[in-house]
Amino acid sequence: MSEYVLDHHQDGERRRLALMSRLLDPLHRRLLDLLGLSPGARALEVGCGNGSVSAWLADRVGPGGRVVAVDLDLSLTSLASGVEFRQADILAGPVAPADFDVVTCRAVLHHVGDVAQAVANMVGSARPGATVLVIEPDFLPVSVAEPPAVRDFWQGWLAWSREQGIDYFLGRRLPQLLSAAGLTDVAATAETELYNGGSPWAEYWRQTISQLRARLQDSGRLRTESIDNFLARCTDARWWTQTIAFTAAHGRIPGG
Ligand SMILES: C[S@@+](CC[C@H](N)C(=O)[O-])C[C@H]1O[C@@H](n2cnc3c(N)ncnc32)[C@H](O)[C@@H]1O
Repeated sequence: MSEYVLDHHQDGERRRLALMSRLLDPLHRRLLDLLGLSPGARALEVGCGNGSVSAWLADRVGPGGRVVAVDLDLSLTSLASGVEFRQADILAGPVAPADFDVVTCRAVLHHVGDVAQAVANMVGSARPGATVLVIEPDFLPVSVAEPPAVRDFWQGWLAWSREQGIDYFLGRRLPQLLSAAGLTDVAATAETELYNGGSPWAEYWRQTISQLRARLQDSGRLRTESIDNFLARCTDARWWTQTIAFTAAHGRIPGG
């Protein structure tokens, strides 16, 4: 069974996932709409977190459609009518062979040990002609973050994350992974938000780093001063920065 680094039972995880939904649902919804989502469609979301995207999907596909949402841990999902929540590991196999018209995930694959297998199982859940949309981070923008102390902070964060098995540079590999899994019409874009201290993204990072602070310090990858310096920036409205290029890649299952 796979493990997820940010345990859903940690203090503040519900709040952090809610903030993530607020920050990323508009992008995810926009892309799903662009790719076409008709009433009556069958949709699968992998790694649904709190289920906000699945709830929206259920609204879009209507009573004639079907939405299945899977996650290792469903304890933070809010009840959403029309969504069938299932506790499952995407590495264990397709959710339902060749069943869905749309298969999507967001901010999940960079946590998964065998990404190619996870993509293969998502693809295996989709029917011929279906669309697969994956959205994952790429931390390229931190290489130009200012001032240098912030770049140092991110280098420590990335070193710690690598040790936890997290691939924060997965975004750039998504089109290749989808092509290798047999998808056609593969295309990808990346979007980076520039944000300042006090903004929702700064608050997201303030919460994430505060939640993990003890583990980060114990790892020796980040010094206390570096963490304090970063947390102070997160509340300084004069500081503007960029962290993640959210990369969205999609493709089509041949046939159909
Ligand atoms: C960073 S959260 C993202 C949640 C949601 N997709 C979002 O963007 O708000 C990652 C989610 O993926 C789930 N997850 C991680 N590995 C998984 C796996 N192997 N199979 C299913 N879900 C997984 C975690 O439990 C967690 O809910």
